[in-house]
Amino acid sequence: MSAHNDSARDEVEPVDLSDPKLTRFEVYKEGLRRDDIEIIHYEPRYPKPGTRLEKRMERIVGGLFLLSGLFATLFVVAFIWWPWEYEGAATWRDPQTWYTPVIGFTLGFSLLFFAVGVLTWAKKLLPIEELVQDRHDGGSSKEDRRIAESTVDTIVDDMGLRRRPFLVKTALLAAAPLGLAAVAPLGALLKDPGDMYTVTGWNAERYNDGDPIRLMMKDGALVRPDMVSAGGQITVYPAIDHGATNQFPTAPTLLIHLREADAATLRGNLYPMYQDVEALWGNFVAYSKICTHVGCPASLYEQQSQRLLCPCHQSQFNVVDNAAPVFGPATRHLPMLPITVDDEGFFVATSDFLVPPGPAFWNRPSLPEEDEK
Ligand code: FES
Repeated sequence: MSAHNDSARDEVEPVDLSDPKLTRFEVYKEGLRRDDIEIIHYEPRYPKPGTRLEKRMERIVGGLFLLSGLFATLFVVAFIWWPWEYEGAATWRDPQTWYTPVIGFTLGFSLLFFAVGVLTWAKKLLPIEELVQDRHDGGSSKEDRRIAESTVDTIVDDMGLRRRPFLVKTALLAAAPLGLAAVAPLGALLKDPGDMYTVTGWNAERYNDGDPIRLMMKDGALVRPDMVSAGGQITVYPAIDHGATNQFPTAPTLLIHLREADAATLRGNLYPMYQDVEALWGNFVAYSKICTHVGCPASLYEQQSQRLLCPCHQSQFNVVDNAAPVFGPATRHLPMLPITVDDEGFFVATSDFLVPPGPAFWNRPSLPEEDEK
């Protein structure tokens, strides 16, 4: 206790706490006084307990808790069962369009109703009390602990926890689904993503009955070598159903037509795994467009320095060295898509990416060090 507190306490006659005639409120008040808390005003909100007004207020608070519990339950149900998976371009009539708003609003309303219920309980049912308090230092003596017990008991009585079982039950009814709503999202971590990170839209076995998949532009036009001049680049997608949509988010690829000298440099630097599959065709090379940092499109091609720049966090990849990262936060090269030209003169992918494109993920397959950069 500070000197300031001691002097303040000395000004008032101390109460003998061993006096059995002391009421609980007097002990509570004495406890406050010892901590230099002065009750300026104290008045029960409802001097006569059980009035119609008090009961009405209890019903309102209980109703708010029940609404909170209802919305928390709806959140859990929607989070688990509402359709959310992408199935092509969705309209406002499709339920997956509403997945995010539904879980946002249900959880939001649940928290809102619970908070309003607690506030209404405090504002409309607790006693009207005004206190002034100085800061308190030091440990707790036996007497202080007794005071604390009486204080807690007084607060419990003031809140009406004993004589308002309806409110306690409705609060618990709301809290149970709210607790469930807090842990339900963890369930999403249990889902096995399967091979969605390792198989892309370029996988011919999965998406084209084993026939090599052609390269197409956003508008569906198939790509021939004469469509990209030396030093140029275009974005290509697998020529399969929905190949240029978000259904295949890891498929977008940059097809670059290198100048003769740059292509020779790249051939000299090619990682063994790309040499084995003859990943280049002529002076053309195809790299995943998905940045290996956190997945932005790395598509700013700087011809002079032969660098690909990701605009999100400025990672740079060396086009003539397997798109290895040379600057910025990305730590892995952009995977190369092995390509060739078919009998009809169109570009085709000879296989899927040899390395999973995009950012790292749990259990990402590793490769020999000379290939995995
Ligand atoms: S996403 Fe490309 S640098 Fe961060």
